[in-house]
Amino acid sequence: MNARCADPTLLIIFGGTGDLSRRKLLPALGRLAAAGLMHGNSQVLALGRSDDHDDTSFRALTAEALAAAKLAEDALDPNALHYQATGSPADFAAVRARIERIEKEAGLAQSRVFYLALPPQAFAPTITGLGEAGLNRSEGNTRLVVEKPFGRDFASAHALNQVVHRWFDESQIYRIDHYLGKDPVQNLLVLRLANAFIESLWNRNHVEAVQITAAESLGVGTRAGYYDHAGALRDMVQNHLTQLMTLVAMEPPTSLSAEAIRREKIKVLEAVEPLSAKDIVRGRYTAGSIDGKALPAYVDSEGVAAGSTTETFVALRLGISNWRWQGVPFYLRTGKALARRLTEIAIRFRGAPVHLFESLGVSDTADVLRIRLQPDEGFSLHIDVKIPGTPFRLQRIPLSFSYDDRFDHMPEAYTTLLHDVLCGDQTLFVHADEVESSWRAYAPLLDATDTPFDYAPGSWGPCEAECFEIPDKELWRDS
Ligand code: BG6
Repeated sequence: MNARCADPTLLIIFGGTGDLSRRKLLPALGRLAAAGLMHGNSQVLALGRSDDHDDTSFRALTAEALAAAKLAEDALDPNALHYQATGSPADFAAVRARIERIEKEAGLAQSRVFYLALPPQAFAPTITGLGEAGLNRSEGNTRLVVEKPFGRDFASAHALNQVVHRWFDESQIYRIDHYLGKDPVQNLLVLRLANAFIESLWNRNHVEAVQITAAESLGVGTRAGYYDHAGALRDMVQNHLTQLMTLVAMEPPTSLSAEAIRREKIKVLEAVEPLSAKDIVRGRYTAGSIDGKALPAYVDSEGVAAGSTTETFVALRLGISNWRWQGVPFYLRTGKALARRLTEIAIRFRGAPVHLFESLGVSDTADVLRIRLQPDEGFSLHIDVKIPGTPFRLQRIPLSFSYDDRFDHMPEAYTTLLHDVLCGDQTLFVHADEVESSWRAYAPLLDATDTPFDYAPGSWGPCEAECFEIPDKELWRDS
């Protein structure tokens, strides 16, 4: 992220005064402006259903959001911030008139970004409204950003794609998966493809298993109303963990273009072997405590339906039936209220064919490359070395790299993603075929109604998750 994109742009945020806008979007724009990465004449139009706000109060809200993110309150020029109540249902003709007025006053050439920071049920009607008002095209450049979740199964994602494609071309669409904006996730490609020795080991001949973990230490908090309709499989696996899996598993693309990279990711999804109930363990947390604070059981959280069977933990095993990965298990695990926050990809390489050091009590010499995505971003590769002197003993040590030791700042995901939208780079966004293939792959697991296994907050999930034939159970643990 080192280039300012040429065009001054009007960013139109549906849900512009909502939580996502305050916590992520406005601070991200503030960071881009402060770094000179956004054209100084760009404008923001926040749209909301009610007239609780006006330009003045939106400017105050933005100053607060910027200050809360430790940015200067005027990182975004207050004169470039506008608010309009759309009414309910939204009056798109009025929105269009306001857009044109702002563009005229600021001298913008119809470079527009529509950002849907809205609840998912509002996506289709808003996209249709934009299309019917003729806002899907402009003389300049029109882009549409859609937040997650994109559908809740294959049929709904497909239906939403049809609405999108009725009005917009795929080249205008930016489906958000904020994991793709995390710098260490982007670094996966560099690690693999700029270091030829790693790529030469990156296949079934040398890799025994891949384990991808996204553990969170917090419970569902105040989001149970949403979460109870989603669960860990929809909330984390179908999108974030699957994106990580495709980046690990894809073939080297023919170029770094968005199209080339996304084509390879789609091929991975198409090669996922059919899943069935035996491939998944679902769990949900019981009452307990986290960091000394009481946590109610998931089922007792406000917003959870009586008789809910929604899972807060998933461990699943999947296979990828292609030349590179045939026979290598990919383990995906995620959950709330787990022992600690940790997102990590562990690549376990096959051990030496002969255990020369068995007589020294070392039976397992398999090396593990751990790619830590958060927190304490970095890599480590565990290798065995001889401890100096006698007796002859081995010790497993990490060769490691830590972002903190090497670099002084880590861009925030939404800042990267918004910058890419402004620059028209779709690489870090999810293509229509990706989202549909991903929902299709998980279809057999989505509507489970069995009661999930219990696990205690602060644990690593239900012990049943260890029933998989995991070559090294310790991999599921903290390193
Ligand atoms: C969101 C999920 O997409 O990702 C949340 O809806 C989850 O439930 C969050 O907590 C995790 O994101 P991060 O960046 O904190 O790992």
